[in-house]
Amino acid sequence: MKTKAILISLSLFVCACASVEKPPEPVAVEQNRGKKVAFTFELGNCLACHVIAEGDSPGNIGPELKNLPQRFQNKAELKQFIWDATAFNPNTIMPPFGKNKILNDDDIQQLVDYLWEIK
Ligand code: HEC
Repeated sequence: MKTKAILISLSLFVCACASVEKPPEPVAVEQNRGKKVAFTFELGNCLACHVIAEGDSPGNIGPELKNLPQRFQNKAELKQFIWDATAFNPNTIMPPFGKNKILNDDDIQQLVDYLWEIK
């Protein structure tokens, strides 16, 4: 019994150490998911056509993405736009990211939350 107690306290000790040493990386990555989606070629690749603050070598095919609360009534409307820009302008060259399943719903939501804050 004593050995068991020692083993348990030992493993608790090890666990506590491990959790202290663990870098908070997974959380940080998720916190920046929207930005990552916008900046990454294989994901949203929004930088190909849009200037976005802090983004390298942006394209200028679309308008700069900033002050979006002035352009859209709410986040839901912005999300609809990213989901399917052709519903707003049938002639746009912006890909319908949601409709064509280029990005999933969660990534588009992360994108909206990120873009909404850019001034
Ligand atoms: C192939 C080029 C292209 C890509 C890639 C692209 N867009 Fe666009 N986007 C445009 C163009 C062009 C417009 C101008 C509006 C139009 O064409 O109707 C636009 C307009 C917008 C607008 C409206 C801005 C405003 O001020 O009215 C938003 C928001 C937007 N894009 C977000 C995005 C996001 C987010 C991504 C990445 C997931 C993205 N775009 C990728 C071309 C692109």
